[in-house]
Amino acid sequence: MRTLIKNGTIVTAVDTYPADVLIADEKIAVLGKGLEVKADRILDATGRYVIPGGLDAHTHLDMPFGGTISSDDFQTGTIAAAYGGTTTLIDFAIQAKGEPLRKAFDTWMGKASGKAAIDYAFHCIVTDLPDSRIPEMDELVREGVTSFKLFMAYPGVLMVDDGTIFKALSQAAKNGALICMHAENGGAIDVLVKRALAEGKTAPKYHALTRPTTAEGEATGRAIALAEMAGAPIYIVHMSCNDALQKVREARDRGLPAYAETCPQYLFLSYDNYEAPGFEGAKYVMTPPLRPRWHQEELWKGLAKDQLQVVSTDHCPFCFKEQKELGKGDFSKIPNGAPGIEHRLSLIYHGGVRGSRFSVNRWVELCSTAPAKLFGLYPRKGAIAVGSDADLVIFNPNAKATLSARTHHMRVDYSAYEGLEVQGAPEVVLSRGRVIIENGEFVGKPGQGRFLKRATYSGL
Ligand code: URP
Ligand code: ZN
Ligand code: ZN
Repeated sequence: MRTLIKNGTIVTAVDTYPADVLIADEKIAVLGKGLEVKADRILDATGRYVIPGGLDAHTHLDMPFGGTISSDDFQTGTIAAAYGGTTTLIDFAIQAKGEPLRKAFDTWMGKASGKAAIDYAFHCIVTDLPDSRIPEMDELVREGVTSFKLFMAYPGVLMVDDGTIFKALSQAAKNGALICMHAENGGAIDVLVKRALAEGKTAPKYHALTRPTTAEGEATGRAIALAEMAGAPIYIVHMSCNDALQKVREARDRGLPAYAETCPQYLFLSYDNYEAPGFEGAKYVMTPPLRPRWHQEELWKGLAKDQLQVVSTDHCPFCFKEQKELGKGDFSKIPNGAPGIEHRLSLIYHGGVRGSRFSVNRWVELCSTAPAKLFGLYPRKGAIAVGSDADLVIFNPNAKATLSARTHHMRVDYSAYEGLEVQGAPEVVLSRGRVIIENGEFVGKPGQGRFLKRATYSGL
């Protein structure tokens, strides 16, 4: 099967140029201007960008959490991702305490296989690491699970102590893994949460008021210090505030391999969302929480200046009815997380490129190329080059879309961005050479997504 994309403007992390793309089966075969070649199918990209498919390095599909399960599974979540131009995601396989890391991987492979409509990989969440289990990290790295997430928050559930973090980082320094860190001071937050509840402060906004930015800044600094001691790189996930960004800035200025991602919610939403009437604020209960509005511009600047390297979604949807409502009368029981897998590319294009904060190339870098490099998938993913997977998006920079639960494809009963109009939208999406989105319809098949064995960390 040969597909020719004609008349588009190729946009990569480094170049913008007019060219046609010939795809042979699953790979990019030829790039060139005015290609005169035979093809089974021709897609016209006049007036459109042709970009590498988006790579979302942080999603939680079919995840048991907060007494319930995230509402998108690997079928609904990957289809929603595809609508938004994301063709690869990296989800999290969670180690149950006392169980082998391998079991987590097998469990999540079972959730994804036969369902995923786009390619996928896994990070492994480590909740328990006695010395006897350390070699299990190496085993997973050999299987292509080359990154691990650890939590400095959620005591009694996911949190691990500094000794465990240091052990994991030290092993990563040897086996080439990248440690992803949820950086918040969980011990102090736990005290604040208990105090608030004892004072009868139960509304959703207290989720934010008991998780101050200093708790995120402190843990980020500590995580970087532990990584420096271990001689390992570190990747801070879902950064929400300037306090934490400051720690990454300082580390990078000293030449340390410290990286961080932020998410659209921290760039577009703010603490004000928790002040919505009634229980509405529960829609925005996520961790770290939304911050006072001024942090947004610091994060945008961080993205522009490469203080932050990646935008992912932390897609972790829970329906407002029945799931978020588990926390009515006690904010600490609201399942933490929000939906977003579908709109990352449009939101970051709209706010970043249309908002004159960075170039169209930086947008591609943040949403596709940099995560592909950091997580061992480049140049198979995140590139438009001969031999790369033909994961491509024909993106209309002028199309306007209004985000709404009425029109989105995520299996969740609200949108965190209800009514927001964005400019820039994917029109045609190809996954390994097959068109999976066109004319506003999903035309791929669940189960066509493949597990991706990733290479070890080799910098950015
Ligand atoms: O609120 C969030 N972020 N839920 C997902 C779990 C996590 O910490 O990433
Ligand atoms: Zn987290
Ligand atoms: Zn997450």
